[in-house]
Formats: sequence, structure tokens, C-alpha cells
Amino acid sequence: MSEKATTDVNEAGIAVHWQEEEYVHPTTDFIAQANMTDPTIHDQFGLDKFPNCFKQYADLLDWYEYWHTTLDTSDAPCWKWFVGGKLNVSYNCVDRHLADNKNKAAIIYAPEPESEDHLVLTYQELYVRVNETAALLQDFCGLKHGDRVTIHMPMVPELPITMLACARLGVIHSVVFGGFSGKACGERIADSGSNVLITMDSYYRNGKLLDHKVKADEAVAIANEEGQEVDKVLVWQRYRDKYNSETPMVDGRDYFTYDVLKEYRGKRIDPVWVPAEDPLFLMYTSGTTGKPKGCQHSTGGYLAYAAGTSKYIQDIHPEDVYWCMADIGWITGHSYIVYGPLTLGATTVMFEGVPVYPDPGRAWRIAEQLDVNIFHTAPTTIRMLRKVGPDEPAKYNYKFKHMTTVGEPIEPEVWRWYHKVVGRGEAAIVDTWWQTETGGFLCSTVPGLEPMKPGSAGPAVPGIHPIIYDDDGKEVGAGGGAGNICIQNPWPGAFQTIWGDRDRYVTNYYARYNTNPDSKDWRDWPYLTGDAATLSEDGYYRILGRIDDVINVSGHRLGTKEIESAGLVVQEVAESAVVSMADELKGVVPDLYVSLKPGYEANDALKKKIIDAVIREIGPIAKPAHVHIVRDMPKTRSGKIMRRVLSAISNGKDTGDVTTLANPDIVEEIQKMVQGG
Ligand code: WTA
Repeated sequence: MSEKATTDVNEAGIAVHWQEEEYVHPTTDFIAQANMTDPTIHDQFGLDKFPNCFKQYADLLDWYEYWHTTLDTSDAPCWKWFVGGKLNVSYNCVDRHLADNKNKAAIIYAPEPESEDHLVLTYQELYVRVNETAALLQDFCGLKHGDRVTIHMPMVPELPITMLACARLGVIHSVVFGGFSGKACGERIADSGSNVLITMDSYYRNGKLLDHKVKADEAVAIANEEGQEVDKVLVWQRYRDKYNSETPMVDGRDYFTYDVLKEYRGKRIDPVWVPAEDPLFLMYTSGTTGKPKGCQHSTGGYLAYAAGTSKYIQDIHPEDVYWCMADIGWITGHSYIVYGPLTLGATTVMFEGVPVYPDPGRAWRIAEQLDVNIFHTAPTTIRMLRKVGPDEPAKYNYKFKHMTTVGEPIEPEVWRWYHKVVGRGEAAIVDTWWQTETGGFLCSTVPGLEPMKPGSAGPAVPGIHPIIYDDDGKEVGAGGGAGNICIQNPWPGAFQTIWGDRDRYVTNYYARYNTNPDSKDWRDWPYLTGDAATLSEDGYYRILGRIDDVINVSGHRLGTKEIESAGLVVQEVAESAVVSMADELKGVVPDLYVSLKPGYEANDALKKKIIDAVIREIGPIAKPAHVHIVRDMPKTRSGKIMRRVLSAISNGKDTGDVTTLANPDIVEEIQKMVQGG
């Protein structure tokens, strides 16, 4: 924990200036159809009923063997849920819906080019394709229960098919966001120990067919450098009979998935019944150090939690058409495009492209055409839609009963546009606060039960019991100001550990407020979320932003260290420091400061080289707003770079007292350079 949320100019600093808003109530029509309207729900999930209350969620699943122990704490703080139970995720998401709903749409895919038709996969079709793909993974790739496989794919139906095929075999998937670089993918392949990479030749974004396979070659090379051999690269094709990539297929390593699949036509694979506490997937996320963390999620607990929250918070009914516009490469896509909705037997919509391409009406045309009634996206997208087409939604004939916002704080003004214009003043909105680590929602209103409050995530969801601590471990109560928000109790969706690094898991998430490291009692292990928050008198939490070295760009988590080290690969760069800069659309963006090694001159070509390096190392989402080449960094006498001062400069704020720095003069120099004048 480097800086306190309240003193820094960061997301917290920005959000804390918002006022408490008036309640907005859900409509009677919404309440009449809502999955959850029982006012005793929070009591049913009270701490006195913990952990058995979560049986309600486990019972949304089909178990091959029912579990005997709700929560096993013997290896605290690595929690085990529903111990003794066996199940299969692909069986729960696909097979069990066949008897009554085999002809129902499971996935509807909207390609980016509007000249291409929507693709509808019924549950039966999904079943066939998952089975054939599972057969291929098992027999052609030799993958089996417990192996890891890395999937680096864009938003295409083959992505959830591949995930479900892995789950069918008990193979642990690690999906890497398609927009990440080959290098980022390679590091994740190495960390997870995957010897198979599943990728795609190309995909559409903003009207262009992008070459994606090129990243696979780089990824394999990086993984090799780190000591991980990749024996097979499976390449899905955007168009089955074409190969749209500049890079050659490597003989004996690269295979077109559709070619190999011909051998497996009609094959069925019995689901592998795995223990509830077996890992289902890894999801890498950014933390305080440069190395991304592989958050390991369980099978039974995770699926139960994704299903329970999809049912009660997303209010998904089997007959709904549900569209979450996130990318499956992030946790939101795992829980709330794939696993939650499919477990409930709903219809989930996937969109390949950008919601404002080719024009600001694109998203609303999809909603109209598919008659979407539940819509899910992030504040950064809402801001963009509002900016480029504030009046567009009114031109289309769709009706949302429910909408979600996720990933970053939403400004009340933007919330109100979302509600009034996108939701026609009728949709219930849930502002869902959670994390890659948590598997599912932590705070949100229960939409048929509790009023919305713009700018506040809401109370904790059933079964989650937050507590806000100050830096000394004293509880900050309602109305008491900002502090570090923790969760007092384990819950089934929580990740199990960091892949291969239990110590880091304990240190990062549990050590801070634990007083007895030997304790086997969950009460001694509050989970540190890494966010600052306030609690108001009515029990609503407002999330202010990260307290650690994480920047949340457009709702995508990036580690400051990752961006800084990407800057440092440029040979001329001596030091690099990144800060968050407030941005009208993206919430915050990285702003990069570098100093050069002796003998080098600042110029535009060098700035471009640094920006290119960041894009190459991480991906375009990490692109800095500016590269400021400075003569020296503001430093403390002990030599620590004062990011707080740089952050104030980037955001046009007062830098505060800098007289104690080792080099106070540099502050004014940088200020002039950045702010002009
Ligand atoms: C932030 C995304 C405010 C928070 C699901 C958290 C939010 C980080 C909200 C996790 C929200 C997420 N309001 N802030 N509704 N939702 N955050 O792991 O800082 O990509 O710690 O998971 O996003 O980002 P992650």
C-alpha cells in the first residue's frame, strides 16, 4: 500500500467529490416479474446463517455427487466450498438444458460487419460443438483433467465453445484478453504451464480485419524463453475456408482447428465429474508488482456463485435475451456472458465489435433486432455512447427491463443518462462492484427490492459482509469517511489462490488485517479488496477506487509496474513512472513520465518509440495519454519517485508541499512542461 486514497489524485480523489444522490425506485412492472423480492433475503444470508446459507446457490446446480461439507477452513485462508461434491460445468451449462430446451438459443452472435448475419447456436448445437471440440482436445492434443491450456481469442462463438470443451474434460482454461499482446500472452502461457495455445487467425474491430495469429508466434517464443514449450497451436478461423493472417502456419505445431475437427464429427465425450474444489480456470490480473497474478477459480463454488448472482442480481429468467457487452477475456465475460447465464439456461448475446462502429446507433440496432431485455456494460462505454450519440437510443425500438454497470465508479450524471435515455426511465439499474478475484458481485442493489442510488454501488449482495477499516485496523462506521473496504467472510465465488504462489495470495489479500496467521477460523481472515470506500447511513457503499498501484483504464485493470517496465524496455529510457490522469471518456488513463540515460535527447520520435513499446509489451489499452520526457524525476531524499507529485501535475492539481524533496526545482520545470506557461 503505497499511498492513501484520500490524499492522492486518483480515482478516489475524483469520486469522493460526488454528492449523495436521491433514491430512484424500480418500477412496479419490474418488481412484479423480479426473481428476488423477498425482504428477508439478507437475513437468510446473515452472518449467523453462514456458511450454510450458500446451499441456496449450490442448489441451482446439478451435482453428480452431492457435497457433505459447506465450507472447509482447514487450509485457511484457502477456502474449500461444497466439499465432497462432484459436478461438471459443461454438463450444467449445456447438457441439462437439452431435455426441455434443446432448440432454444443458447448463444446469439452478432459479428461486427452488419453485412454478416447473426449466428444462433441452440443448446443442441452448442452441445454438439462442445463435445466435438472436447474430443479434439482430448484425443488430438492429449489434454486431460488438471492440465492447463491458454486461450488467446477475440469475441467469437468458438471462444465459449472452447472454454466449455475444456470444462467438459476438467482441463483448466486460462483465457487471455484478445487485445493483449503476444508477449503478455506468452508470459501467461509460461506462468500457467500450458503446452497448448488456442488462438484465432483474425477478427473484426472498428471495420478492420485484424491479424491475430501473428501474436501466437510471439507468445510461443516468449513462453519458450521462459522455459515453457508449446507443442501445439490450434488456430480457429474467422472464415472457415480462408486463412486471414500474414504469418505462416508452423509445420508440426500449428493446426487449423476446423480441419482437425473433421475427424471428430459426431463424437461425444462423457463429462468428467470433478471435485467441487477443483480449479475451473485461471484469470490473470494486474497487481502491485509487475508480474500478473493467475487468480485460480474453483468449479463448484464459482459456478454456484455465478449462477446465484446471475439469477438474483442480473434478474435473468430463462426466457430473457441477455446482452453483456464485456469481453469474455475479462472476468465479467466469464461469469456474466458465459457461465452464469448458461447455467440458468438463458440466451446470451455476444458481440464481436465496437458499439459505436460504424455509427453511434450500432448497439441499439442489435438490441432492437434481437429484442434484448437485459443489458450490461461499463461506465467507459456508457460515457462514449452518450458522447457520440446522446439521442440515438430513442430512435430504436427496444426495451430493457434491467441494465448493469460494472468495472469503475459511474458519475451520477452519466448514470442518469443511462437510466433516462438508454433505459427509458423504466429499466432497473444495478451498479455492480466486484473484482477478478471475487468471481461474482460483492456490492449491488437487489434490483426488485432496493432502490438505486446513482454513484453508489449499493449495499452488499446477499451473503457478503463488508467492513471498512482504517490503516490501523479500526472499523470505520457508517458516515465515518473513507477507508479500506474488506469482506469479513469467505463466499463461494472467491478465488482459491494465486496459481503457483500461495504466499503472494496470503500476503496480498489476507495478511493486512489478520492477527493470527495460524488461525483456521474464517473470522480471523478479512479479505482486503484493495479498494477505498465509504459507507453511508443507509448501508450503501460508494467505491472510490484503488488504494494500490493499479490503474483502472476503461474498467480494465493495469498494474503501474507493468506499464513502467514496458517503458523501460526502450534503450534510451533510464527511469519511468506512470500516474492516472482523469479522462472524460475512459475515467482514467495512464500518463507516462520518463527520464533518459545520459547522452540522449528528448524528441517526438523517441516519444513514439516509447508509446509503441507499451503497446507491444501490453496492448493498446495501456497506451499512455502522453509521454513526458523529463530531465529528472521528483524524488524523496531516499530516492523514491514521487508519483503523487506527478499525478497532481498531470491532473492540473496543486502539488502540495514539495520542499522536502531531494530536487524541488524539478517540480516547477515539469509543471511548466506539462501544463504550459
Ligand atoms: C473497480 C472487474 C466502482 C474496483 C469486475 C475493483 C469498480 C476493480 C466497480 C476490479 C464499480 C469494479 N464501482 N469501482 N461498480 N466494479 N470496480 O478485477 O477498483 O477487472 O477493485 O474486475 O475495478 O477490476 P477487475
